[in-house]
Amino acid sequence: MGQDGMTRRKVLLGTGTLAAGAALTHVSGLVSTASATGGSLEKWPWPYKKLDPEKTAEIAYNEWYRVFCGAAVISSVFGQLRQLIGEPYNSFPIDAFVYLEGGQVGWGTICGAPAGANVVANMIIGPRIDSSTIGHQISTDIMQWYSQTELPVYKPKTPKVKDNLPTTTSNSPLCHISVGRWMKAANKPLGSPERKDRCARVTASTAYRLVELLNKWKEGGYESNTDFNCGKEYGITGQFNCNDCHGNNVPQAPQEAPPKA
Ligand code: HEC
Repeated sequence: MGQDGMTRRKVLLGTGTLAAGAALTHVSGLVSTASATGGSLEKWPWPYKKLDPEKTAEIAYNEWYRVFCGAAVISSVFGQLRQLIGEPYNSFPIDAFVYLEGGQVGWGTICGAPAGANVVANMIIGPRIDSSTIGHQISTDIMQWYSQTELPVYKPKTPKVKDNLPTTTSNSPLCHISVGRWMKAANKPLGSPERKDRCARVTASTAYRLVELLNKWKEGGYESNTDFNCGKEYGITGQFNCNDCHGNNVPQAPQEAPPKA
């Protein structure tokens, strides 16, 4: 007998309302959970209180060794807000974002540090109305800062690796390129303590930057540092480092039809 048969029989036998309800939802789709709205966590933006960037970075650094880059950035901010504010932060499943590691489960796409920072910024600042919305702006500022800064900037108070680690500019938000350029400069493999500590410090550097930006926004003085918009400029989603991948032969995206006169 298959899984469904089992479940249905359990329902028929009435093994308790809770189990029956859950089984019904699963088997016959009587309740559509996807369309259920109004849950207590659904309303956003969430409240923010200014945090100390230094303290946040130190937490992020240590959290990297527990949940890696993305979840560490989220934990460094939301963990403190749990103590200062409580709900809805207490209910947010920080550790679920462990999958951001290695550019999403090791696939080398977006580095978890900016990915985690973007989760935080958008949760706190609110829905995107257009590309000038501040949550969106903080995210794009984080992406550009990450790409163009010699990282890591942050030096932990009690580093797990004592050496001075080399710094590199990734010119890209991609984990693959960011880690690759650093490994080449440092001549250290992926599994080395140095590479791990480098990523923990990049995570801490990003958490520091994020809180600086959030604090500025909270004070009401936020001004965006970037106006890069790949879709508008090039007609394709992307980053600014076209030549990195395309060499001198950057393809042209099909152009929008010109507006009718
Ligand atoms: C991280 C590497 C990377 C970066 C950075 C990048 N591209 Fe690409 N892009 C690719 C790859 C790989 C393809 C697929 C190429 C193919 O299938 O021939 C592609 C495809 C494209 C295409 C689709 C048409 C075609 O000929 O394949 C366009 C247009 C394009 N890129 C433009 C750009 C522009 C403009 C930029 C900079 C703003 C850029 N790309 C940055 C890797 C990159």
